[in-house]
Amino acid sequence: MPTQPIDQRSAWRDLASHAGTMRERHLRDLFEAEPSRHLRFTRSAAGLTLDLSKQRWSAETLTRLLALAEQADVPGAIQRLLGGERVNLSEDRPALHTALRLPQDASLVVEGEDLVPGVHRTLDRMETMVERFHTGQWRGATGRAIRDVVNLGVGGSDLGPLMVTHALSDYRLRDVHRVGVHFASTMDGSQLADCLARLDPETTLFVLSSKSFTTIDTLSNARTARDWLMSRLSGEEGVDAELVMRQHFIGVSASPEKMAEWGIAPAHQLEFWEWVGGRYSLWGGIGLPIALVVGMPRFRELLAGAHALDEHFRTAAPSDNLPVLLALAGVWNVNFLDIRAHSILPYDGRLEYFAAYLEQLEMESNGKSVTAEGREVDYSTCPVLWGQLGPNAQHAFYQLLHQGTQAVECDFIAPLRRYDEVADDATRRHLKGQHRLTLANCFAQSRLLALGDDAIDEPGERPGHKRYRGNQPSTTLLLDELTPATLGALIALYEHKVYVQATIWGINPFDQWGVELGKQIAGETQRILESREGLEAMDASTRALIEAAWAADTN
Ligand code: F6P
Repeated sequence: MPTQPIDQRSAWRDLASHAGTMRERHLRDLFEAEPSRHLRFTRSAAGLTLDLSKQRWSAETLTRLLALAEQADVPGAIQRLLGGERVNLSEDRPALHTALRLPQDASLVVEGEDLVPGVHRTLDRMETMVERFHTGQWRGATGRAIRDVVNLGVGGSDLGPLMVTHALSDYRLRDVHRVGVHFASTMDGSQLADCLARLDPETTLFVLSSKSFTTIDTLSNARTARDWLMSRLSGEEGVDAELVMRQHFIGVSASPEKMAEWGIAPAHQLEFWEWVGGRYSLWGGIGLPIALVVGMPRFRELLAGAHALDEHFRTAAPSDNLPVLLALAGVWNVNFLDIRAHSILPYDGRLEYFAAYLEQLEMESNGKSVTAEGREVDYSTCPVLWGQLGPNAQHAFYQLLHQGTQAVECDFIAPLRRYDEVADDATRRHLKGQHRLTLANCFAQSRLLALGDDAIDEPGERPGHKRYRGNQPSTTLLLDELTPATLGALIALYEHKVYVQATIWGINPFDQWGVELGKQIAGETQRILESREGLEAMDASTRALIEAAWAADTN
């Protein structure tokens, strides 16, 4: 039976009329009216503290949003997700990234099969592989130990490990045979070409990361890598193509057949399950580059941190549930305050790729306009999300946040503790000072965005160009410190936030049909570009672009 659209539910209508009053209220008034509102709107779990007091809402707003979550059956949806029901309706399968971080002694029986043993078998196989690298036992075709690993993947098969390896750079292993980890994703081959120019084919191994093993971006890079190895190594004594394939490639995919067809030795294949979405996949074999950098024990801590947040998500009441609250703040902004831009601003250089990671996670998941039942929605869903390291963004796009015409929701993210482990006293003192400077900037920016001119105690009237309107809503997310466990919890927090929002909007966050059509059209265009036939089927603009490419192509 089709469900009633969410915007026709009583809670939605109540929120819409309540928003009429709240739109008139400035954050400065909300803080004046309730000086201790940070207590009302702050919650902690799994090493994370979420301060939502700078959202443009009141206790009454939250009560109404919680009623909306109830009417959308968010509590039931959480249990369905974690219990392995087929929540991905268009692809008729569960979405079980949470199963990848279940502890070994747990059990999750889905459609008659306990998934946990298989998950831990893969983790154990990863461990064995990582060990071979770290002891210098993984040798290339000429017998030299592998020193560099290049991950070839794109989207979820690239961004997760790229983001996490940077975020956990402080945990890089030092007392092992060092393996440099590199990432090449772009289909134009420029990132790969840059790697190849620097690396030695005798000591380089490629990880082909692709759930589908059909992604043209990754397969093009893989072909270039294979030819590079073959052309450099095949002249060496005792080296044949089979040996090169075996010693220089690992595959991570849900298609063992396609990996085998491509030439990846079965022993060097890591399993990826159909029930894990690409952008939710860093927790398994796709995380191999992470384990190579920080080691398997730290990788398991990352999983444990995510699992702690999963448990919080499963058991905490909606009013105390971090992902639910974060999601509700977003729904309030998008659907009731008409704020449809969202900026992610980490105040820690190690989180350089976090915004890029969330761009995929949120927009590929919730950038939808049709409900899971196939009905066009007549309300907004995922906002435009972008970001950059906060301190650098202060010198780039904060001008727009402070004085532009767009309302933007911001997430400020920072670790409270930093640099305790630096051994040298003087350097530690300086770096700790820099950390305090960074926190001061983080706190100052969210305050200024909230309060505007009132944040500054300066007498006299200010000219227009010096006025700050304020009233930009934000969330501040503090990590006790950035560890594998808190990072795992942070990522899981956003994964679940996305799911809660999708539940309220009635959309499926686990498919990406819009992307699929783009791939199909690109394939057709490539055929025309290569064959020089079929141009008449194109529109005038595309025809002219293709002709320009032909004119420039002298080969
Ligand atoms: O671009 C869409 C997408 O399907 C993403 O969801 C996915 O993470 C990426 O492509 C890579 O896909 P695969 O892992 O199958 O190569």
